[in-house]
Amino acid sequence: MSGVDPSQRVLSGMRPTGRLHLGHYHGVLKNWVRLQHEYECFFFVADWHALTTHYQDPRGIESAVFDMVVDWLAAGVNPGSATLFVQSQVVEHAELHLLLSMMTPLGWLERVPTYKDQQEKLSDKDLTTYGFLGYPLLQSADILLYRAGLVPVGADQVAHVEITREIARRFNHLYGREVDFAELAEAAIDKMGKKAAKLYRSLRKKYLEAGDQDSLDTARALVKEQQNITLADRERLMGYLEGTGKVILPEPQALLTEAAKMPGLDGQKMSKSYNNYIGLREDPDSVSLKIKRMPTDPARVRLSDPGQPSQCPVWQFHLLYSDDSTKAWVETGCTTAGIGCLECKKPVIDAVIAEQEQIIARARTYEDNPDMVRSILNDGAEVAEDAARQTLIEVRQAMGLQYR
Ligand code: TRP
Ligand code: SF4
Repeated sequence: MSGVDPSQRVLSGMRPTGRLHLGHYHGVLKNWVRLQHEYECFFFVADWHALTTHYQDPRGIESAVFDMVVDWLAAGVNPGSATLFVQSQVVEHAELHLLLSMMTPLGWLERVPTYKDQQEKLSDKDLTTYGFLGYPLLQSADILLYRAGLVPVGADQVAHVEITREIARRFNHLYGREVDFAELAEAAIDKMGKKAAKLYRSLRKKYLEAGDQDSLDTARALVKEQQNITLADRERLMGYLEGTGKVILPEPQALLTEAAKMPGLDGQKMSKSYNNYIGLREDPDSVSLKIKRMPTDPARVRLSDPGQPSQCPVWQFHLLYSDDSTKAWVETGCTTAGIGCLECKKPVIDAVIAEQEQIIARARTYEDNPDMVRSILNDGAEVAEDAARQTLIEVRQAMGLQYR
């Protein structure tokens, strides 16, 4: 895997849903902003994925892409730190998807839980299509194309990362074999030097004979440390550890995004379809009105009735937005009926509006200069394309499609 360290690479995608809400902000975007400083990050808009369900009316997709990317940027996702791009601008996704489709058993795709679920949920659409069945495989191609080791996703996407691991394993098993693999691997071991070679052999044995995961991890770390071996040898040493062949496509891991810390206005999950959301860039008057209308602990019928913050969705907002002294004020005031609910909501309203001020201002810059957004995405696509091409060179070679 020439020069790529999968454990340092993060990839994630979002379907173009248009403008985002505070649930996306606290659940996903803030996480991306943090990751972009710690890893080599690729974040992309999965516009082809949108077509798997919206093929009958693709017209809204382009503006939804634009609006969503403006929100990413406004939230602090930084094109100087992370690579931002649109899937369909990097056609390599399609090539890898096609090649992987040749070796993917239909049963694997039919068994993905979201397949039947979504067909039932979106019963107004005809989803008995080839593209929709292939959706998880397209996602696998998205991930494997960049040899990303880490994939931040919500719980609903974990099954897709799991099938990606199976696809990678199958690919490496089928195409990672060289005729003289074992001899080449043994020679590579010797090139590490006596001490490391001895350690490698004993760790490999412990893993292969006793399934000891720690030995496998230690051995992988040992291989990673080696400075003086070629990349091909490194891949052989990695593959040989598990008794297979070269690792051409590494298996990714899901980085589980914590369940939405931010509930919707009614206490359910915040979602556009439940209409219980606050937009990331929403007019302050509308933010204020929405929070004022939020239901509170039903026990507080009259001002003199005490309540329990744990029974109230407003409290969840305080947990995210308020400092300790405000939270103490709420707890005392609520349980002793010392404050009214409107009074209690005031600091939340102020905090949400204050947080959004900066986001709205940043978004405006991009909205006023759409060419800036286009150029960020074009640059991102170029960087992504370079990384994608490197993978495809090795994939084609492994599959015997190297005509040059
Ligand atoms: N399927 C994901 C969703 O609906 C979006 C997505 C597409 C994705 N490709 C990806 C997420 C690759 C992570 C990695 O949310
Ligand atoms: Fe909720 Fe605050 Fe009212 Fe208590 S006082 S019920 S926490 S809004």
